[in-house]
Amino acid sequence: MKDFIDPFGRSITYLRISLTDRCNLRCVYCMPRDGLQWQPRAEQLSADEILRVVETASRWGVRRVRLTGGEPLVHPLIVEIVRRIASIPNIEEVSLTTNAMLLGRLAQPLADARLSRVNISLDTLDREKFTRITRGGDIDQVWEGIAAAERAHLAPIKLNTVIVRGLNDDELPALARLTIVHEWHVRFIELMPVGNTQDWGDGFPTPSERYVSVQEMRAQISAFDIQPVQTVIGNGPARTFRIPGALGTVGFISPLGEHFCDTCNRLRLTADGKLRPCLDNSNEISLREAVRLGQPLDDHYRQAILNKPQHHKMLATGPAGSQRGMSQIGG
Ligand code: 5AD
Ligand code: SF4
Repeated sequence: MKDFIDPFGRSITYLRISLTDRCNLRCVYCMPRDGLQWQPRAEQLSADEILRVVETASRWGVRRVRLTGGEPLVHPLIVEIVRRIASIPNIEEVSLTTNAMLLGRLAQPLADARLSRVNISLDTLDREKFTRITRGGDIDQVWEGIAAAERAHLAPIKLNTVIVRGLNDDELPALARLTIVHEWHVRFIELMPVGNTQDWGDGFPTPSERYVSVQEMRAQISAFDIQPVQTVIGNGPARTFRIPGALGTVGFISPLGEHFCDTCNRLRLTADGKLRPCLDNSNEISLREAVRLGQPLDDHYRQAILNKPQHHKMLATGPAGSQRGMSQIGG
């Protein structure tokens, strides 16, 4: 099977699927306190419908699938969906991005269903701050989730940290230090102008203060003398480094500063059944009608790839083409 190449010479081998726009947390940068207007369930793809899309994508060269949300673990059929996707020929890896609140009890069943690995969102090591950022989350549940993922060999474990000035930028050294004794891959991510771009309210930094560039993040941990390393499997857009002698790595993801669009290998499927060619691009192709009518999806799939722009147009100052929040796209 040959890869399907987009107009800018990129092979599209990676599909990110948002299983649901719902979430059990309300991170300040992602959602308003009261949540968002959820998509009606009838407008969301069923497990069978998702499977048909992945099966089509796999025939056009997709070999890796990542399940996202909202929070993918709140989907009642998450284990079955993983099992069925992992058994599609050509699909070599199924992974998942999660806040880990429900991972404690799901890690082993997911591993048994042939999930390969997990990326866990963790923005702070401070219990009280965690509850404040996520508006109600319990960091102990996240630690249990991480421990369960390790026991289930969902490796390599990656921790995603969005760095926000005045909120958690003081924790860069402590987060980096985690990689010395744990085989974890901490990735520091620049805040993107997607999701909750408004004021976050009492005690939180204002919109103009929040953005920290990866250059500045690196400067903040310069005392560790980090050294560049070969990219860790599936580390995608991250630039990866190691503290000398450390078990894990430290990565930096810069959606705005350093374009990673040149090597973008991904397509996104939203929970309401649209193929989205770019994080920051509303030129979506709906598959829902076709999948419900039992029609072939190949033309839709090809068109979505042809719609991929050369670069995103996001600016640190505000959203460009996105009408959806992060939880409605899947990160
Ligand atoms: N900027 C950067 N990262 C974000 N995420 C959610 N919203 C944003 C944003 N505005 C991250 C989450 C999670 C991943 C899916 O995307 O923290 O790790
Ligand atoms: Fe939920 Fe992730 Fe958004 Fe936090 S960032 S509210 S965990 S979807």
